[in-house]
Amino acid sequence: MDLGCGEGYCARNYVAQGAASVYGVDISSEMIRLARESSDDERMTFECASIDLFALDKNSHLAKYDVVTAVFVSNYLGSEQLQNLVDLSYSSLKTGGEFVLLHPHPHLPYLRQLGNEGLRFDVSGEGSYFDDVDSYHTGLILDLEGKTIEVRLVHHTLEGLFRSLVKSGFLVSGFRELRLEESAAMDWPNLQGVSTKNPMHVMIIGKKY
Ligand SMILES: C[S@@+](CC[C@H](N)C(=O)[O-])C[C@H]1O[C@@H](n2cnc3c(N)ncnc32)[C@H](O)[C@@H]1O
Repeated sequence: MDLGCGEGYCARNYVAQGAASVYGVDISSEMIRLARESSDDERMTFECASIDLFALDKNSHLAKYDVVTAVFVSNYLGSEQLQNLVDLSYSSLKTGGEFVLLHPHPHLPYLRQLGNEGLRFDVSGEGSYFDDVDSYHTGLILDLEGKTIEVRLVHHTLEGLFRSLVKSGFLVSGFRELRLEESAAMDWPNLQGVSTKNPMHVMIIGKKY
């Protein structure tokens, strides 16, 4: 299951890599329309629902999935909604299943002085990493074509992200700080302004025992 699936980019990659089926959920009807149009592969199904409303119907998804992913959707959610997303992921997984959370690196908005031109956020709130939880940071990112896109990011500390998994019952089984690799930067010249020296994203993996 892919929560906040957008136009289905991850779902298409999961089936290409061997997933027997993928169920994607997104709040945006436009994204779901694009996801459905992007492929007629019957292994993928998409539904338009908010993660919160979807949680009300969680019984129909109980212990159903081997893997649940949430790729860059937690950064749109406040703390309460984030906890709902993680609880829903936990209850929807089979025992032994894994939850994979990708989130922009929480330090990113506070790294502006490092001259990362391709990816930057303006710090709102107190300007304090610890006190800004649930504040919005507005930012600009480059897409793969080099087009600038305005984005918003709800701030969560790294500790807050970990705690949300533990609170749901997950054992945190994996963690990585991800950056744009030098080799990938060469493949995508439009991303030249993006620093390869600093982290961009975090990946946290929780296992259900
Ligand atoms: C940055 S996009 C990521 C899309 C996809 N996961 C990817 O990596 O290509 C964030 C997605 O989260 C969706 N989203 C935001 N809030 C949501 C919510 N409460 N419930 C479900 N989806 C939500 C947005 O509509 C958007 O498609």
